[in-house]
Amino acid sequence: MINLYSDTQTLPSSAMRKAIEAAEVGDEHSRSDPTTLSLERKVAELLGKEDAVFLPSGTMCNLIGVAINTSPGDVVMLESNGHILRSETGGPAIVSNVLTDPIEGHRGQFTVTQIEEKLDQTSRYRPPTSLLCLEQTHNFAGGTVWSIDLWNEVCSFAKSKNLRIHVDGARLLNAVVASGISAETWASKVDTIWIDFSKGLGAPMGACIAGSAEMIDEAWLWKHRLGGAMRQSGLMAAAASYALDENIERLREDHERAKMLADALNELGAKVVEPETNIVFFDMKPCGKHNEEVVEELLKNNIRTSEIGNQIRAVTHLDINDDDIDSTIRVLNQIVNN
Ligand SMILES: Cc1ncc(COP(=O)(O)O)c(C=O)c1O
Repeated sequence: MINLYSDTQTLPSSAMRKAIEAAEVGDEHSRSDPTTLSLERKVAELLGKEDAVFLPSGTMCNLIGVAINTSPGDVVMLESNGHILRSETGGPAIVSNVLTDPIEGHRGQFTVTQIEEKLDQTSRYRPPTSLLCLEQTHNFAGGTVWSIDLWNEVCSFAKSKNLRIHVDGARLLNAVVASGISAETWASKVDTIWIDFSKGLGAPMGACIAGSAEMIDEAWLWKHRLGGAMRQSGLMAAAASYALDENIERLREDHERAKMLADALNELGAKVVEPETNIVFFDMKPCGKHNEEVVEELLKNNIRTSEIGNQIRAVTHLDINDDDIDSTIRVLNQIVNN
């Protein structure tokens, strides 16, 4: 199977499994799992924050990030196709009792004017907006990378309005590799930010959220409350740590392969959202094909993609090589020319 369904589909390599086997472990609940503690230090340093905490998933990082940056009844502003809004079953509404105010983005990004317009509507009758969420890279916009200038403008403006800022950095390291701008720089103006180990980094599970020592203390409260405190989590922290040491730079190859696929799709006449990282969204209608039919035909040829909205999504990752991309292009050619 050529699995382009998502970068969550990666399987742990044998070197990663060896790192798991060699991990020293303890009781994470009482902060005595040495491998988890060391991973948390590594992530805090990478993101230039005082502290970080290991959580079972990125979804829990978002849930806790919203909880520690808001009070019940607050409004959270975020991009209208953001993962928090679209794919996390309304968690922030249930857990934090907040409302969400979506901003219509362009390629997952929005401007100071758009935030300003929404804040202008604030009156004593409206609930207060306390948090701005950003997603880097933006999944449903096509793995897009915020421009650093826009990012800085938006963050500075949000701070001038006393908003907290939380970043869904499920694929922040893809943005780091694509932009050449460090994780610490992307993180410098925000309150909480997290990275996921189970996407392009290739670990089986886990994510770390970082922020000030005070915020991470509060995150610990929520981690216990939500059942995210673990025991011998060092086994998974070892995989995550291995991924940070070995798998960041190679994300560049995933981006190159996404570009190869996009170029071939353009040649075929598909409508392609030009990839900036490892996600390719495309529409086969201009080639006279229904997307649903193309996804099915690809699957019959052992190539797994997904239909999202009125587009097809293909995601490259460390278990996809050049031959896989060549085979996918060959099958797409057959589908279009049949
Ligand atoms: C942008 C984004 N945020 C959050 C998540 C959730 O991460 P997890 O699967 O680790 O819960 C995902 C998962 O695909 C994602 O793409």
